[in-house]
Amino acid sequence: MKKGTTFEARIDKFADRGKSLSRIDGFVVFFPGGVPGDRVRATLVRSRSRHGEARVEELLEASDLRTDPRCRYFGVCGGCKWQHVRYEAQLDAKGQAVREAFEHHGGFENPTVHPAIGSDDPWFYRNKMEFSFSAERWLTREEIASGERFDLGFALGLHAPGHFNKVIDLTECHLQSELSAQLVNGFRRLALEREWDAWHIRNHRGYLRHLVIRQARHTDDLMVNLVTSRLDETRNEEIAAFLRAEFPAVTTFVNGIHSGVSQTAFGEALHTVFGPGLVRDRIGPYTFEIGPNAFFQTNTSQAERLYQVAKDYARLTPDDLVYDLYCGAGSITLFVAADARHVVGVELIEDAVVNARANAAANGIGNVTFETGDMLKLFTPDFVRKHGKPDVLIVDPPRAGMHPKVVRQIADLKPGRLVYVSCNPLTQARDLAALTEAYTLEEMQPVDLFPHTFHVENVARLTARA
Ligand SMILES: C[S@@+](CC[C@H](N)C(=O)[O-])C[C@H]1O[C@@H](n2cnc3c(N)ncnc32)[C@H](O)[C@@H]1O
Repeated sequence: MKKGTTFEARIDKFADRGKSLSRIDGFVVFFPGGVPGDRVRATLVRSRSRHGEARVEELLEASDLRTDPRCRYFGVCGGCKWQHVRYEAQLDAKGQAVREAFEHHGGFENPTVHPAIGSDDPWFYRNKMEFSFSAERWLTREEIASGERFDLGFALGLHAPGHFNKVIDLTECHLQSELSAQLVNGFRRLALEREWDAWHIRNHRGYLRHLVIRQARHTDDLMVNLVTSRLDETRNEEIAAFLRAEFPAVTTFVNGIHSGVSQTAFGEALHTVFGPGLVRDRIGPYTFEIGPNAFFQTNTSQAERLYQVAKDYARLTPDDLVYDLYCGAGSITLFVAADARHVVGVELIEDAVVNARANAAANGIGNVTFETGDMLKLFTPDFVRKHGKPDVLIVDPPRAGMHPKVVRQIADLKPGRLVYVSCNPLTQARDLAALTEAYTLEEMQPVDLFPHTFHVENVARLTARA
C-alpha cells in the first residue's frame, strides 16, 4: 500500500507499544490510538515493504472496548495513552502482550500466562511524579483553537510525545493526586510572579528544571524536590515560605541541583531546606526510607502484589539461601527475607545499596547481605564461593534484560528455582529462551503497575531440569 492512500478498515488487535493493527491483504497497518473492533477511515502516513502506519481520520464505528478518557490532555500528553480503552480490556491486552512475547520472540509453545492482576483503583496510583519546566511550551489543539494568547516561553507539566524540548502546561493530571496537580499550579504561579525562568532544553539555560513530587501511600509523608540548575538560597527560603503557607501537607522540601545538559531529574547535589529530606512508605509490613534520588516502585499497592507473586513463586523454605539480583534499594530482598535463611542482594548503584542496608536495619532484618557492583563482573564463581550456592534466584533486571554472560552464569549455577521479574516481556522472553536447556518455564503472572499505559510487569516461575 502506498503512502497517502486513504482506506477503510476494521482494527484487529493490539500490537507492540500500545498501538493496534490490522492486516490488509497481507500488509500490516499500525494505528496509533486505534482500538481493536474500531472501524475507521484512515490514511497511510508511513509505508515499508510489508507494514506501515496510518492516521485515523474518522472513527466510523467505535469498538466496545472504548471508554471516555478522563483527562483533558488525553491524546496530547504522553502520560497515559490508553485512557480511551476500558480497564479490563487493558488488562487482557497486557496478558496477550506477554503471551505473544513468549510465543513469537522466545519460541515457547502455549506458555501458561495467568490473567493480569489489575489495580483496585487505576487512577491516582503513582507515588512519584516528575514534572518538567521548559522555556518552550507545547500548545494543545484546544489552546490554539481558543484564540487566546499564551506565553510560549514557560511551561510546567509533561512532555509532548516526540518533542523532547516541548512541555504541555498541565493544570490537571490523574496520575498522582489532586494535591499533586495543585502543587504544579502553585509552583507555576510562584515562578511566573517572581519571573524565575524555566530551563531551555535546547540552549541549556534557565533556572527551573523539574518538580518532583513524592507522596507516600501509607504515611502522610510528602516531598517536594525542586530540581534547579544552580543553588539560590534566597529563592529556597521564598519557596519554603510559600509551601508552608499554601501547602502545609508538604513534609519536606529538597532542592536538587542538576547543572548538566541531560534531561534527568537526578540531583548531583541535594539541599534539604526543611523536613527530613526523605519520605517513608510501606510495602507489606516493611517501612522504606526513600530519598530524592532513590529508585522505588511508583505504584505502591501494586508493587506489593508484584512482590507477593515473586515470593509465592519462590516457594521459600526457612533453609533457603536466596540471591536477589538487580535488587535496587532491596525491596524484594526485605520482602522475602523473613521466609528464607539468608538473602544476598546485588545492585549496581551505590546509593541504592546504602538505602537497602539502611532499610534492612530500620526494619530489624539481619539475614540479608548487599553487594554493590555490575552483575557482569560480580556474578562469578568466586562470588558463589563467598556467599554459597543459592537455592533460589530472584532476578529483576532493567528493561534491557540480562547480559548473555549473566544468563550463561545462571545456566551453569542452575539453582533449583528461578523467579524472573521483568518490566519488559520481550527481553524476558529472550533471556528465558536462552535458558530452556537448564529450566522449565512453569507459569507467568502479569501485574499491572501502570494503568492506562501499555507497560506491564511480568513474573515468571521456572524450575531447574533434572
Ligand atoms: C527494575 S530495577 C529493580 C529494583 C528492585 N528489584 C525493586 O523492585 O525495587 C533494576 C535494578 O537493576 C539495577 N542494575 C542495572 N544494571 C545493573 C547491572 N549491570 N548490575 C547490577 N545491577 C544493575 C538498576 O540500578 C536497578 O536498581
